[in-house]
Amino acid sequence: MKPAERLKTLRTELAHHNRQYYTLDAPEVSDATYDALMNELLALEKAHPELVTPDSPSQRVGGAILSKFEKVTHRQQMLSLANVFDEAEFLEFDERLRKALTLEAVTYTCEPKMDGLAIELVYEHGKFVQGSTRGDGTIGEDVTENLKTIKNLPLTLTGKNLPALLEVRGEVFIKSADFKRMNEQLLKRGEEAFVNPRNSAAGSLRQLDSKITASRPLSVYLYEVGIVEGKTFTTHQEKLAYLDEVGLPVNPRFAVAKGLDGVMTEYKSLLSARHSLPYEIDGLVVKVDLTDARNRLGQVSKTPRWAIAFKFPPEEMEAQVDEIVVQVGRTGAITPVANLKPVFVGGVTVSRATLHNEQELRRKDVRKGDWVFVRRAGDVIPEIVKVITTRRTGNEEEFVFPTSCPICDSPVKKEEDGAIARCTGKHCPAKLAGRLRHFATRTAMDIDGLGDKLCEAMVETGLVKTVVGLYGLDLKQLSTIERMGEKSAKNLLEAIERSKKTTLRRFIYALGIPEVGEATAKALADHFRDMKPLMDSTIESLQVVKDVGPEMGKAIHGYFEDADNRAMVEALLAAGVKPEAPAAQAAGGTFTGKTVVITGTLTMPREQAKEEIERRGGKVSGSVSKKTDFLVAGEEAGSKLTKATELGVKVLNEEQFKALLT
Ligand code: IVH
Repeated sequence: MKPAERLKTLRTELAHHNRQYYTLDAPEVSDATYDALMNELLALEKAHPELVTPDSPSQRVGGAILSKFEKVTHRQQMLSLANVFDEAEFLEFDERLRKALTLEAVTYTCEPKMDGLAIELVYEHGKFVQGSTRGDGTIGEDVTENLKTIKNLPLTLTGKNLPALLEVRGEVFIKSADFKRMNEQLLKRGEEAFVNPRNSAAGSLRQLDSKITASRPLSVYLYEVGIVEGKTFTTHQEKLAYLDEVGLPVNPRFAVAKGLDGVMTEYKSLLSARHSLPYEIDGLVVKVDLTDARNRLGQVSKTPRWAIAFKFPPEEMEAQVDEIVVQVGRTGAITPVANLKPVFVGGVTVSRATLHNEQELRRKDVRKGDWVFVRRAGDVIPEIVKVITTRRTGNEEEFVFPTSCPICDSPVKKEEDGAIARCTGKHCPAKLAGRLRHFATRTAMDIDGLGDKLCEAMVETGLVKTVVGLYGLDLKQLSTIERMGEKSAKNLLEAIERSKKTTLRRFIYALGIPEVGEATAKALADHFRDMKPLMDSTIESLQVVKDVGPEMGKAIHGYFEDADNRAMVEALLAAGVKPEAPAAQAAGGTFTGKTVVITGTLTMPREQAKEEIERRGGKVSGSVSKKTDFLVAGEEAGSKLTKATELGVKVLNEEQFKALLT
């Protein structure tokens, strides 16, 4: 084959794989195969520089260094959106539209509101020629070279009869997982981490050196069309379908909703899916679906009348630090925590935020009295993202990290890598309370009703000296605890009694062995099948277990070498705790070798569904991919169900799933 022909094939193939990988999340080839194709292309282009085209995938690596960005006047103004924050406000918007359009119910398209940076792309005869930021809506900046480095942005559109001019609008963003990885790498190199995906997307796109942009994991989705020559769309859906057809990345998650009820349903569904989406969103964009209706509605100053941003509760807010204190956890780890003036963030009122450890505290330089950005996303513990240094008055106080435990006064020792400081006190009450709480947790011994406060009270009153003490409690003793009613005391005793019947993996996890999380506990239970052989294992024999390396082997061995720990395990067993060994894995278990994902609400607890699958030889994974064998979908399954259906993964409803368990 002639080099020119081969290059053409390679470019088409690489563009196809880029789209499969970056837009559809459904790679068809391994990374190695992709790299091989890319290397072949690079070698061929090197040998034939005259054959390099501007739309070649090799041109995505960046290179051009600008001294400034040129200004670009948008042919058509780039609008922004007005916001509503609750149902009542949305109702007003909907009423206004119904009146103006004299309709009973308006049909809307609902899209996730991507938290990124608005951009415009210009394609001429299917070739990407220019891209710009929104700027003030009229004039933006030319960021063409930077946009070219975005892996899922097609440099050439696909299909015949492509318009002479196509202007599309969309959002540049960074997926949450990419953001996390990027920040880890930045920190490792001693560079400053980004505050959030939005800021880093914006910062990355505004680099004068496009090589820097190329090194950042940017993605793009398109959601609107500016000018398009020779083409009209009756509806917004039709427009999105067209963008997808010509190969532009379009967010697969969008819904058509009728009237207020339809929009509210989608709002709730998206809100609950918010943290399982691979990117950050800050609301729902609701747009009138019919083009004709849009045209009749027009715009007011810089926002259209036909669309609105229906915002979600914010996950980042400003707050003031009242005080910095430290907490002592079950492993003795000393965690600095900021007490805040209460703020409403992430849907709840937050009055404290973790600062993780001393290094983090120093890195962020949080001081008493500081104004900070607090972030709470989903069930994640609230944390301080950044200090707003411009709001400092000079009266802020630096925190002095304690050298002795604030609870038991024992010396604090720093770990070798310097990150974690621990209380060295063997009988520190804070450690004991933490251990009790961990022991009782849902995925460990599952003792309902034994929360933080109660654990602390039990330690404080001296009712319990080790976790074994739980199994010797009676009603009379419990009644000495302040605010403990008889009913709750009874319930608690029952829950403690019930916890005796447990599984080996839960029991191992409950012990709180350093380094041993749920997955390792399961692996240990599957391997040793009883406590005795586990307690007598050696560092070497431990490493036979899946995922147990030398470090972890040492930690587990060290734990059981301690006479107190051994005595505690034996006392627990003597008190009647009966950890059941995992069922021998039937060679032909229903799920042997299968990967299963669970989504939505099931009538049985998630944890149980997971155990049932694993007991039958299956592996439970958190995200749907081509490798998923089954998706167990409960009520209100969201994006995972959509994705499974798209990928042709077999979906089981709860009834079908249960049938497989009998
Ligand atoms: S449409 C005239 N759709 O939100 C309509 N915007 O607050 C223009 N955004 O500037 C915007 N996701 O950066 C639209 N699916 C979506 C969006 C979206 C995020 C951003 C966009 C816009 C801002 C307005």
